[in-house]
Amino acid sequence: MLKLSMLKVHPIPAFTDNYIWAIVYGNSCIVIDPGDSDPVFSFLNNNDLELDSILITHHHFDHTGGLVSLAKYYDCSVYGPKGGHIDGITHDLAENDEINVLDLNFKIFETPGHTLDHIAYFHSDSEDSLLFCGDTLFSGGCGRLFEGTPDNMYDSLNKFKMLPDETLVFCAHEYTESNLKFALEINPNNVDLIDYSKKVTKLRSKSEITLPSNIGLEKKINPFFLLDNPEILHKSEKFINKKISNPIESLAAVRSMKDSF
Ligand SMILES: [Fe+2]
Repeated sequence: MLKLSMLKVHPIPAFTDNYIWAIVYGNSCIVIDPGDSDPVFSFLNNNDLELDSILITHHHFDHTGGLVSLAKYYDCSVYGPKGGHIDGITHDLAENDEINVLDLNFKIFETPGHTLDHIAYFHSDSEDSLLFCGDTLFSGGCGRLFEGTPDNMYDSLNKFKMLPDETLVFCAHEYTESNLKFALEINPNNVDLIDYSKKVTKLRSKSEITLPSNIGLEKKINPFFLLDNPEILHKSEKFINKKISNPIESLAAVRSMKDSF
């Protein structure tokens, strides 16, 4: 549980490694990417909360599977990517849209790469900056390119890179430890990465959550934010057996290395 000034953000674990994030504000709640309704119903009942709205980042079933039953039971709004391809969405969203839920303003970024429909939700006020990035950014990694291209993912990650360093990053999976194993393989002399990795290993040995991360940390340790790092470039060029001339080629090479790691 993360305690912020006016709101609390709780992880609701689902499946093997998903987190459904719940933003609690008074007695009301927003959930992001409810892939399964059962743990969300339990969380809401146990904490005597009313579901105000649901935010969806992309169409994958482990992010959407519970939305129809939750929306029906609580008669709530469901925000998600435009296109009409996800059952139950009541409010279509696109780049630069702004929504207001539970008195919280969220700006929408289109972040294709993992899927083509992927969007992210960014809230910022004088006290808190929060990013709900679904499967686009993970701590120490990024989503697999199931539908989009390396160019798409590069542009999407750049939108996040420009956010304030203190922005808390709420990723949708507990992938940090395995991401850092790979990151250390290609960037072994990064002292920030070494330090962070020790911290994460300790947390995971106690089965504790490693999230949220923050943008400032990711800029120091995430290989997908360090595409011009000489160590990473050298490993990437060796892997594809070709000179790399721009960061998109570097991202493609790092993603391929990770996919076969
Ligand atoms: Fe996904």
